Amino acid sequence: MSVTSVVGLQWGDEAKGKIVDFLTDSHAVVVRYQGGNNAGHTVKFDGQTYKLSLLPTGILRPGVTAVIGNGLVVNPEALLNEMKSLTDRGIRVDGRNLLLSDRAHVIFPYHIVEDRVFEQRRGDHAIGTTGRGIGTCYRDKAGRTHAVRVGDLYHPESLRDKLKDIVAFKNLTLKALDPSLEPLNADAIYAQYQTYAQKLESHVVDTTAWLHKALKQKQNILFEGAQGGLLDVDHGTFPYVTSSNSSAAGIHSGSGVPQRAINRMIGVVKAYTTRVGGGPFPTELHNEIGQHIRDVGHEYGTVTGRPRRCGWFDAVATAYGARVCGVDEIAVMLLDVLAQLDELNICEAYEIRGERTTDFPSHVEDLEVAKPIFRKIPGWKQDITGARKLSDLPAGARRYVDTIVELLEVPAKFISIGPDREQTILL
Ligand code: IMO
Ligand code: MG
Repeated sequence: MSVTSVVGLQWGDEAKGKIVDFLTDSHAVVVRYQGGNNAGHTVKFDGQTYKLSLLPTGILRPGVTAVIGNGLVVNPEALLNEMKSLTDRGIRVDGRNLLLSDRAHVIFPYHIVEDRVFEQRRGDHAIGTTGRGIGTCYRDKAGRTHAVRVGDLYHPESLRDKLKDIVAFKNLTLKALDPSLEPLNADAIYAQYQTYAQKLESHVVDTTAWLHKALKQKQNILFEGAQGGLLDVDHGTFPYVTSSNSSAAGIHSGSGVPQRAINRMIGVVKAYTTRVGGGPFPTELHNEIGQHIRDVGHEYGTVTGRPRRCGWFDAVATAYGARVCGVDEIAVMLLDVLAQLDELNICEAYEIRGERTTDFPSHVEDLEVAKPIFRKIPGWKQDITGARKLSDLPAGARRYVDTIVELLEVPAKFISIGPDREQTILL
């Protein structure tokens, strides 16, 4: 029996979707355990491109059950739209292959308004959120008093009362923050969410109980992380993080499956670094090399379309991500993007206020002043997208991957040299 986890070790967008899709053939269940429609996973198969946000990648495969676990924040409208976009393309999505936890939290229109207003007020210190109401919904979850879970949608009487209270409170605070805002209407929201609830009802179950049965039946289960270790609310570059445990730490809390049930932990790393939104980024490139990587790697957000900040591979940050997630193998993605560069840099240590360190700082004030110390690796200047085995790669590309493995102290099991499934070297 294989219980596998796939988690990003950087600031998200590591091309996790490709690895999840690759492994889906050998897993009967694919589980999302945190985040929401801030994630953007692109999967290519059968010559088609699918962009998924809230739905687990496994939904694309016949015979796979996709599970939206208790740890997610779910925007029902976004979920229904995404389901429809798949059914329109002939992909089956019904109560048997898509399960939604009754414990997951629900995103409401006021969460999205709050996300925008809070960000505006932070000005230069804005987190650069995706604007989807993710953090504000998690805020209400932690605060308890203004939270609505998926299961609550099926108790209409108490939901109506609850929404009256919540919306009155939100109108009060939002009006104080931005007097130009129109008040939200509790009755309208209630009515709208009743229709969503109806449409989703056949999917809603206690996914924790369901997953424990699947474990007992020795089904192969795959946990699909969104975002990455460095965006984790506890372990990432706080406050420039997302509001969930996007490292492997979130698997247990976000699915109810204990960590010790997992017997394969795969960390996904991009061969360089990208970041969307604010926050320190020691190896960021503000020059034509950064722009070259952005162009060749199509580094524009799947969710928001924002250009991603690009930089050299940061082994200090990524090794930290690998330690926190506890991965025993890595997948190195998008190596092909680095072809054609004369010389490559991998950050092997930081200099922070005159001191050399390979420890990842716990505070952004220290990370902001960290100067990367690079190891230089000659470029390989040739297209590698046709490589199918390690020996097809030029010596420079092999040395580049070896350096990542050496600095992360974790073996590589996959090297991706293009978006398609076949463009994968298995080690
Ligand atoms: P995938 O799953 C990259 C970033 C946002 C912002 C911060 C907080 O595609 O790897 P939020 O809306 O979550 O409150 O924003 O987190 N962020 C991501 N960056 N990939 C993602 O997901 C991200 N999801 C959120 O840009 O900096
Ligand atoms: Mg993405």
